[in-house]
Amino acid sequence: MLPNHQSIAPSVLYFGTPVVLMVTRNDDGTANITPMSSAWTLGSCVVLGLSSATQGAINLLRDGECTLNFPAASLWANVERIARTTGANPVPPHKAELGFIHEADKFALGGFAIQPSELIRTPRIAECPLQFETRLLTCHRSAKQQGASSTRLIMEVDVQRVHAHRSIVLPGTNHIDTARWNPLFYVFRHYFGDAVDLGKTFRAEH
Ligand SMILES: Cc1cc2nc3c(=O)[nH]c(=O)nc-3n(C[C@H](O)[C@H](O)[C@H](O)COP(=O)(O)O)c2cc1C
Repeated sequence: MLPNHQSIAPSVLYFGTPVVLMVTRNDDGTANITPMSSAWTLGSCVVLGLSSATQGAINLLRDGECTLNFPAASLWANVERIARTTGANPVPPHKAELGFIHEADKFALGGFAIQPSELIRTPRIAECPLQFETRLLTCHRSAKQQGASSTRLIMEVDVQRVHAHRSIVLPGTNHIDTARWNPLFYVFRHYFGDAVDLGKTFRAEH
């Protein structure tokens, strides 16, 4: 086949990863939600890519814990309702320029309910069918780019407990029912869902 590609310079490289709603505790004990998508798993760890300017990163570094909540595709509009907000007050200047505003209660704004965790103080998001309770293991700081107002943080969190809504668990097992779990994806700043099951890897257990 003849090569048919062209060289392009996209403004973002978000090739498509699941949306994660990271909940952290502010220093007054209230809960904040940070929508994110730069996340991937490595054994029992999840690696998170966060801007140092997010309130979520500041809280995670101080408190050492967070919950990771995975919204179903049907929750995309709730996620978008809080997308333009930050728990940081005042809003960092570079974000204010982009139209971000401060929001102290993203649970209320997004239509989400607080659900207490079992092992850590940080709560979960009740509407998310899949939730991880985690503790911070380590934080790597990447070099600040010239002229940048924040640095990129690569945080490793250890998953302490997994909660899955009964509707997405294969009865009597520890397996997620992939026919029922419909995660929300973030693809080049668009929300996607309803992924088609094409088959399974040789290591799948069900
Ligand atoms: C779907 C989605 C994915 C995002 N992914 C990331 C991400 O992976 N890392 C990051 O630092 N910010 C990401 N953002 C931007 C943050 O959500 C944004 O900076 C927000 O203001 C952070 O909130 P906080 O300051 O209250 O923590 C994402 C936003 C959306 C809507």
